[in-house]
Amino acid sequence: MSTATPVKTEKDLGYQPFAIGKFSFKRDEYFAHIHYPGGRHIMQIDAFLRALMRDVAWGFFYGTVNFDHVFGTVNHYGTVDMFAGLFNEAYRSGNRHYVETFQAKDLRRVFEQMLENWTNEGFDPFAAPDETGKAYGPKHGNNTKALKRERLVAKRMVGLPGDLGYRTDAQGQTINRQFTDVPQDVPEIHAEPGFEKEVHAFNMFAYVSRSDVTWNPSVVSCVDDSQFCSTTEENVLPIFHGNDRVEWFIQATDEIIWDVEDGKTGKPRAKVVMKAGDVAAMPADIRHKGYSPKRSMLIVWENNDSTLPDRYSRGELKPYPVEF
Ligand code: PHB
Ligand code: FE
Repeated sequence: MSTATPVKTEKDLGYQPFAIGKFSFKRDEYFAHIHYPGGRHIMQIDAFLRALMRDVAWGFFYGTVNFDHVFGTVNHYGTVDMFAGLFNEAYRSGNRHYVETFQAKDLRRVFEQMLENWTNEGFDPFAAPDETGKAYGPKHGNNTKALKRERLVAKRMVGLPGDLGYRTDAQGQTINRQFTDVPQDVPEIHAEPGFEKEVHAFNMFAYVSRSDVTWNPSVVSCVDDSQFCSTTEENVLPIFHGNDRVEWFIQATDEIIWDVEDGKTGKPRAKVVMKAGDVAAMPADIRHKGYSPKRSMLIVWENNDSTLPDRYSRGELKPYPVEF
């Protein structure tokens, strides 16, 4: 007599499990599974890896990186909170949320290893959906090259001597398929004699048209704490960014639709449709996610002043920058 086994034995898919504190992480062919005291969470693996890529590349970013409406991290600039349900009204009111604080470097190491181990050959978490292979299946190969891209940060301005260089065909930085109409001319600079080293200009549109990543702001010019971060956007921002300071958006081309929610509860606050030329200030107490139907250019204007999060959270500063 034979006995039927109703459940297939679990096949080893080749992915490493990870744990830090009381959180543990596992991946299978389609999903990331997160376990923590009192609960478990599940995310589609491609969405999880896209969010993880940003959290790692941006050093936990400004404020909160919500991977979705349940899981994410809060940057305290030295330590990081990792949470489930912390900014979800239903989890909070049922006391089902869980938070643990880590040294940023410890959590970063685990996140980096997880990203490396769980990303298969051909999948690029920074790329637009039409420009990458799939994330699914048993473990096959890796994509270290895509994961280790350096974040481009201009010290002063792209193109100045000793600063970030221009992007060129010769370096393999070709014009993106959706930006073939972007003029590649260079500005003429006519400085007064004696000021040649102090006047500079470059074609930011041409520079950005050659970006091979999406939803990844890179600093193109910087004055003290004022950082102009340009980025190419296509499809959807893989995180809900919870601000800890005001941040300005300048829509340089095309259109992005933003979902804006209360940062703590997730209650919907606004839909912001930004067309080329529009400028918006995102308040310090919200979270937002952008949708870009066509590849577009956005400038994110960040204030790097480290005293701001505390001043906003104490109420010294209003969460919005202007009153009309
Ligand atoms: C944001 O959260 O403000 C953000 C992040 C990535 C982008 C654009 C905006 O590409
Ligand atoms: Fe943001």
